[in-house]
Amino acid sequence: MRVSDLVVRRIGRLTSWALPVLTDAALVIRGGRVAWVGADRDLPPDLAELPELDAGGAAVLPGLVDCHTHAVWAGSRRDDFTGRLSGAAYSPAGIHSTVAATRAASYDELRALAQQRITTMLGTGTTTAEVKSGYGLTVDDELKLLDVAASLTGPTVTTTYLGAHVVPQGRDRADYVDEVVATLPAAKARGAQWCDVFCDEGAFTVDEARLILTAAARHGFGLRIHAEQVAHTGAAALAAELGCASADHLDHVTVDDAHALAAADVVAVLVPVASLYTRSGRWGHARTLTEAGCTLAVATDCNPGTSWCESLPFAMQLACLEMGLPVETVLRAATVGGAKALRRDDVGHLGIGARGDLVVLDADHETDLLAHLGVNTISRTIVGGTPNG
Ligand code: NIG
Ligand code: FE
Repeated sequence: MRVSDLVVRRIGRLTSWALPVLTDAALVIRGGRVAWVGADRDLPPDLAELPELDAGGAAVLPGLVDCHTHAVWAGSRRDDFTGRLSGAAYSPAGIHSTVAATRAASYDELRALAQQRITTMLGTGTTTAEVKSGYGLTVDDELKLLDVAASLTGPTVTTTYLGAHVVPQGRDRADYVDEVVATLPAAKARGAQWCDVFCDEGAFTVDEARLILTAAARHGFGLRIHAEQVAHTGAAALAAELGCASADHLDHVTVDDAHALAAADVVAVLVPVASLYTRSGRWGHARTLTEAGCTLAVATDCNPGTSWCESLPFAMQLACLEMGLPVETVLRAATVGGAKALRRDDVGHLGIGARGDLVVLDADHETDLLAHLGVNTISRTIVGGTPNG
């Protein structure tokens, strides 16, 4: 990971979450970490020699944290997309066609495809990304996907073993669950930090998810879960029971579930592009989760079947416009909320000592990231003090 020194000057509005919004601000990164924040006119003279980026009066935010992506796949789900336009409902069974295409692709092909997606994420402001396996569904293919995920560059990547995405075609359920559990040590050895289960109708049951995630915790994984997307199954309650770092989707969450998540400090990850793409028409869960006091994150869920979208700002715009969440709530959800979902306290904010990960907007106010649709409002993404693009 490259770490650099950088002075960002002439910031019109600086959102750091550590201080109130500063106007006419500057920020100094030394050795990849935030070392000084203040008024531009107060910049200490001894810092004037460092490399400088002139923000030209633009708004600056902490780098975006995309805590839920399935960025490693091959093939296309365009037939599912057109089918839904004719009224077909989303089914997890669509995952099998992506699995076939992904198994047929070489490591290098998969890496090129995933790297292109991750680079697009970087260009739309993502400085930290979680990347799941889940389209291999054999031991070797899942490990290959984890290797691809770990090799990606640009944003800082953390990887998740999602062998329990669906039961592969032709496999016995119980045997496959055993195989997922037996693969945990190898997944850990490949650097996976997290274990996730798609616990839903058409995927894995609550009992299967409990078995897999309990074993994963024993092997030192942090836990995540796809919960209450297609139907209400009890997956959110399981997330609270097991102390998962996050429960994601939650379209069918109940008020009781939401209180259980809040009490167990499980971050509720909203993936509104999936709600749009599956045409579920469900948006009210965001309000249920907020009213229960849950910490919210917002993520792209970038995947071929339910959210072909690398842009976290687009997901954030839906969180505002369809879920009805206020601007500040959504800006926090995509930065410090995503960081909490990944149990990171050094990203998602720009307090002293945080990683020097930030975005310069092509706008003079942070609200415009949400209000201006259909264009890329990120003009520069900086990771560890190194500007990209
Ligand atoms: O997060 N829900 C499970 N996994 C993906 C969809 C995967 C697919 O359909 O390819 C999701 O929406
Ligand atoms: Fe997902």
